[in-house]
Amino acid sequence: MKEQAESIKSEVVSSIKNVNTLSDLANLKAKYLGKTGSITELTKNMKDLSIEERKNVGQITNILKNEVTEIFETREREINDAILNEKLSKEVIDVTLPSKKIKRGSLHPMTRITEEFEDFFVSMGYTVYDGPEIESDENCFQKLNIPVGHPARDAQDTFYLSNEVEKFLLRSQTSTAQVRAMEENVDKGPIRIVCPGKVYRRDEDATHSHQFMQIEGLVIDKNISMADLKGTLEMMMKRVLGEKTKVRFRPSYFPFTEPSVEVDVTCFKCGGKGCNLCKQTGWIEVLGAGMVHPDVLTMSGYDPKVYQGFAFGTGLDRMAMFKYGIPDIRTIYGNDIRFIEQFDRKDED
Ligand code: DAH
Repeated sequence: MKEQAESIKSEVVSSIKNVNTLSDLANLKAKYLGKTGSITELTKNMKDLSIEERKNVGQITNILKNEVTEIFETREREINDAILNEKLSKEVIDVTLPSKKIKRGSLHPMTRITEEFEDFFVSMGYTVYDGPEIESDENCFQKLNIPVGHPARDAQDTFYLSNEVEKFLLRSQTSTAQVRAMEENVDKGPIRIVCPGKVYRRDEDATHSHQFMQIEGLVIDKNISMADLKGTLEMMMKRVLGEKTKVRFRPSYFPFTEPSVEVDVTCFKCGGKGCNLCKQTGWIEVLGAGMVHPDVLTMSGYDPKVYQGFAFGTGLDRMAMFKYGIPDIRTIYGNDIRFIEQFDRKDED
């Protein structure tokens, strides 16, 4: 009996070597361990045996059954591993292949230029201040020293929202933020803000749009002088338009500043030599500024004997047009994706 069991086992061991598929393995398994399999057959005539013999045969067949089952299980694992390995080697992924190009979005040039200014001023300790586009006549003009009937209103052809001139309008300048910031500051202490935003005027040609953007700056503190204004604007222009940029201050007039200046920068197209962009002068006017007028301080609750301030305002569209070489302001607001795509982070790569 023992020899018989041994020979069945060695038969299984040798024939299983040639089996390479799971279905062949199942067939072979049935041949030995199935209902009519040769190992099952061994116990077939048990009932005719003596108790002693029955015990013996039972024990031997059980051991054989366990051993053979284990042999089948091991082979099954081997076959499964081989199937998996073959699959893995066939489905290999080449990680060095170039990926599909992902189309990156691009920031609108106005967003970019605004963020550049904001970054610069935040790094200097300023706060970015936001004001409404619908404003009162008081904030937009009167408290900036431009009373009703003042000729300075003519320079800003304004959209009034009612027939009563003193009521509401679409702000024509971000200088309104000066008034708001001073009035909201209940302690009447120092202020350092920039306010970028949309403004509206009744204008429309290649360099003027009925809606455009400005950025306003206001600093109020003790011992503020023209030197602070000059240094700040020089740094700002160099940061935005390039280190080589030179800045020139010319005396000017704004009702809400005294003294007032207009600021020119060296032409970035010709570097100051003279070209068609700067009309052969080498300079381009970019900004209005000055020391906050004592009356403007007083109207918003500041004592001009204690506090001084400087303010400036510049057109962001003009800056973007210069910096990115945009010839027509209307393309900025035309909403044409082909225009915006040209600013696909070119100068960031
Ligand atoms: N608000 C003026 C404009 O739109 C620009 C300006 C000039 C702003 C002088 C200022 C300033 O803060 O001090 O034309």
